[in-house]
Amino acid sequence: MSERVAIGSLDDFPQGPKRVEIQGHRVAVVRIGDDFYALGDRCSHADYSLSEGDVYEEDLEIECWKHGSTFSLKTGRPTTLPATRPVPVYEIEVEEEKVWLKLP
Ligand code: FES
Repeated sequence: MSERVAIGSLDDFPQGPKRVEIQGHRVAVVRIGDDFYALGDRCSHADYSLSEGDVYEEDLEIECWKHGSTFSLKTGRPTTLPATRPVPVYEIEVEEEKVWLKLP
């Protein structure tokens, strides 16, 4: 059963990526405008942090800074090599200025 945990208020999340570590999950939370996306913060190619990479807002992708794979913020699937496996995707909910993450 999934669990919903509060990870902060809207003000805690400036535009762009931010790493959140909660209950053993390392998550890259990305804010674009008022939209939120959340991916596993470990590149599936090697253990590098996606939240330290660039976000491409138009394509809704984040780039691994180490070797340049990009991942869809919506599906977690890599859109360029060398990564070939997806990273997990988490659901985010925003309610009354509070940001919630759904853990699997
Ligand atoms: S570690 Fe991310 S592409 Fe290689």
